[in-house]
Amino acid sequence: MQKLAIQGGTPLHGEVFISGAKNAALPIMCASLLSAEPLQLNNIPDLHDVSTMRKLLQQMGVAIDLQGELMTLHGAGVNKLEAPYDMVKTMRASVLVLGPLVARFGEARVSLPGGCAIGSRPVDLHIKGLQAMGAQISIEHGYIHAQAKRLKGARIFFDIVSVTGTENLMMAATLAEGVTVLENAAREPEVVDLANCLISMGANISGAGTDMISITGVEKLHGAEHRILPDRIESGTFLVAAAATGGSITLRNTSADILDTVIEKLGEAGAKLRVEADTIHLEMHKRPQAVNLRTAPYPAFPTDMQAQFMALNAIAEGSAMMVETIFENRFMHVQELRRLGAQIDVEGNTAVVRGMPRLEGAAVMATDLRASASLVIAGLVAQGETVIDRIYHLDRGYAHIEAKLSQLGASIRRLK
Ligand code: UD1
Repeated sequence: MQKLAIQGGTPLHGEVFISGAKNAALPIMCASLLSAEPLQLNNIPDLHDVSTMRKLLQQMGVAIDLQGELMTLHGAGVNKLEAPYDMVKTMRASVLVLGPLVARFGEARVSLPGGCAIGSRPVDLHIKGLQAMGAQISIEHGYIHAQAKRLKGARIFFDIVSVTGTENLMMAATLAEGVTVLENAAREPEVVDLANCLISMGANISGAGTDMISITGVEKLHGAEHRILPDRIESGTFLVAAAATGGSITLRNTSADILDTVIEKLGEAGAKLRVEADTIHLEMHKRPQAVNLRTAPYPAFPTDMQAQFMALNAIAEGSAMMVETIFENRFMHVQELRRLGAQIDVEGNTAVVRGMPRLEGAAVMATDLRASASLVIAGLVAQGETVIDRIYHLDRGYAHIEAKLSQLGASIRRLK
């Protein structure tokens, strides 16, 4: 198993290019199932999750050509309407094929995702929504089997805000008969990016980015070209890493508009930030101040940035209270951060972090994608060497992370 070895204590300095957003690329790749014409996507990030989705779609019969960051997906030959367990268990986002398959082909068999490291994460809202649109759904041998002659528009209320739930039903509704209204829909920028791509494919969608999305179904969708928006979580991770190490960095090819709460919290921590067009510049000249935060659906503070800020708070001046409201088991990095000397108490969904003047390098284990990012940040700050095991989690969502960090002056290498 591959590991990362980090020699901590060097402030990050320099420029880094931000990749396309994983959480936009995955649903948008699934949109290729909705049309028999080619979908050309730009700014595709080089990530393990993207390769997993590529393999899944290829197994279904989508022809895919990848040239660097340009991916063309051609859904004319789709002939296998199934997402098998071995794929879905490694990547929950595989469930995003469900809506498009039922909408275009009237049938899908998608494995239930099962347990996952950051909580039970059911897909009941995806299933209920499709049922409201007239799909017959049965659960057989661990698979969701959905059938529908043609889906029908419906009014669907989400009692919990769900990002992939909103995306799955929005895709399904593009080819349904009549109007679908999604209420209490997710407002994440990645939902808006998917809606924009679907609109370029001929879909009739309004309200994406608000909590009420209205979709009028059309007979078919056509080919299109789309550029994936920048990854706000990768952007936020580099900004926190620079702030925690007391560095100065410039992010290129990003967007500050979708990072409001993260930028605000970094300002509270004492960082100086400057935004110009697609560039964000951050400088940190002192020890960070501890920042309280509470995760919640967009536009509030993202759960995918909670772990990284915990690493920052671990070496900050003062104490911080961090509340996780989205996932029930998303504090697994706490045990590992403690191995580096962090002082963190957890009670239910609240962590209280008492900032320490320094952390010390140690061997730690990555448990999920964003937890891994927090360990990298802590390792960059800690005195001496930190070795992070199970970094395959990191490769799922961060493109070329050690190359990008090395370019910023970090002493980091991959142990094979
Ligand atoms: C997406 C993101 C993930 C991010 C999360 C929250 C992708 C590929 N992944 O995950 O990076 O951390 O949003 O911003 O975009 N829930 C149910 N029933 C459902 C669906 C969800 O109870 O049918 C619950 C979940 O258990 C969780 C909450 O709703 O407690 C939000 O989950 P959701 O927004 O669906 O997360 P994902 O879309 O899986």
